[in-house]
Amino acid sequence: MGSQRVDNECTKIPVPMTEYLLPFLGRMHPVLVHLPIGILIFGILLCFFPQKEKNALLPSIRLAFLIGGIAALAAGGSGFLQYQWEGFAWEDVQLHLVGGVITAVGSFGMYVLVKNAEIVSSKIRVFALVLGLILGITGHWGGNLTHGEGYFTEVLPADLQSLFGAVVQPELGPQLTEETWENAQLYAEVIQPILNKNCKSCHNPRNRKGELDLSSFAALKKGGEDGMVLTAGDAVHSALFARLLLPKEDEKHMPPAEKKQPSKEEIALIENWIQGGAKESGTLAAAGISKNQIERFILKNEIPFYPTLTLAPLDADSLAGLKAAGLFAEAVESGSGLLKVTCINLPSFQDSDWKLLESVKSRVAYLDLSGTQVTDAVVEQLAALSTLTVLKLNSTGISGNSLKKLAPLNNLKLLYLNKTGVKLNQLQALSSSKSLQKVFAFDTPASLELATSAKVTFPFILEAGSYSLPKLATDSIVY
Ligand code: HEC
Repeated sequence: MGSQRVDNECTKIPVPMTEYLLPFLGRMHPVLVHLPIGILIFGILLCFFPQKEKNALLPSIRLAFLIGGIAALAAGGSGFLQYQWEGFAWEDVQLHLVGGVITAVGSFGMYVLVKNAEIVSSKIRVFALVLGLILGITGHWGGNLTHGEGYFTEVLPADLQSLFGAVVQPELGPQLTEETWENAQLYAEVIQPILNKNCKSCHNPRNRKGELDLSSFAALKKGGEDGMVLTAGDAVHSALFARLLLPKEDEKHMPPAEKKQPSKEEIALIENWIQGGAKESGTLAAAGISKNQIERFILKNEIPFYPTLTLAPLDADSLAGLKAAGLFAEAVESGSGLLKVTCINLPSFQDSDWKLLESVKSRVAYLDLSGTQVTDAVVEQLAALSTLTVLKLNSTGISGNSLKKLAPLNNLKLLYLNKTGVKLNQLQALSSSKSLQKVFAFDTPASLELATSAKVTFPFILEAGSYSLPKLATDSIVY
């Protein structure tokens, strides 16, 4: 019996003291730091304390900086241990650590300075102030480490926060995409963002109005001061939903009447989610959510068609000049400095007429030279139109040989070469274009080749089905 006991005692391997003592001391850091802070502030204040005899407080000041320095060392040591054991990143702690070292060294410096002084000189006061400043900054960095940046400003209203320079991220609500919305998580990607947008400012871990935190699934499940706010499958009896439906005059209406209200769609989605069991995981598709219901949360792909650049306003004279010559010109979009120029009513336009366009060269984004007399020579000029986005060369004498010059135009998206002499292999020259989306080559040798030859592919869409284009009404509009 006796030996059994001893055996047990022996198999219990003692935990080495360093394994808990060091992390424990590390965790004392947030407590220990207040010691040097208090003592040093006391010492700094004493330097400014009005005194009849200029040296009456010198011994106390000296002592304060000595003990303050020792306390700063101790705090620094524990801080280093905390950094070692708690997995802080060096980038995050470095400024705070350097500040701490300067504070400790500075305190001892002050001690020496005061020890050799006869009076509290203005030099001592200036150094004391500098030390105080470093102490303050170091402490602030330390606070950011433990409480997170914006710990103080976080509790302030948004407009005050921005006054303090804190970046207030607006809650955007659900952000779905056209392609992936069906696979999005109903709770995480739709419901929680709706709550973040409409409720989180008052219902979060720091500001729990009605004892309710709506910033996470776990918190929301806990409910508020009146108990659960959710009854899975029963929205009407879930305070989380029912309160939204209460008339605005009702003091229990949420969000409070003076606050921005959730949209009809948002309320419907919350209802949907609760009816479906208020689950944490599950996709929109699985919940039977239709596209209509989430349409407004789908991010629109808003890549502008024409290049975005700020141009000087259009000069009325040069526009008038173009029109007088029989060209048609207008802004591609209202407010844009970019031009749409067409020669529909000027079939006599030929290579030498290019000079008409010289003055607007830098802003032509849409150019229609269809049906004119232009030849390959004009392509040389076209290659210099850096904003050119749509180019129509239908029914012209352009041959495919000049196309390679258009490939470097890095805004060119649509190229019309219907009823020209271009061949399939000549179109290949456009393959190096990074912007080209579609090339139209109906009624060309290329379209005939396509019908017979093996499948060829281009990085752009080639529209070249072999048929004659019907004449469009717009082709003969007279401006
Ligand atoms: C402007 C602050 C504010 C906003 C925004 C807000 N609430 Fe409240 N909420 C309160 C206050 C204050 C209470 C406590 C008084 C009460 O019960 O009416 C409360 C209480 C509640 C309760 C009752 C908790 C309980 O157990 O007593 C629910 C549920 C609730 N809110 C839901 C919401 C929802 C859902 C939203 C967002 C759609 C929201 N609130 C937005 C301030 C707010």
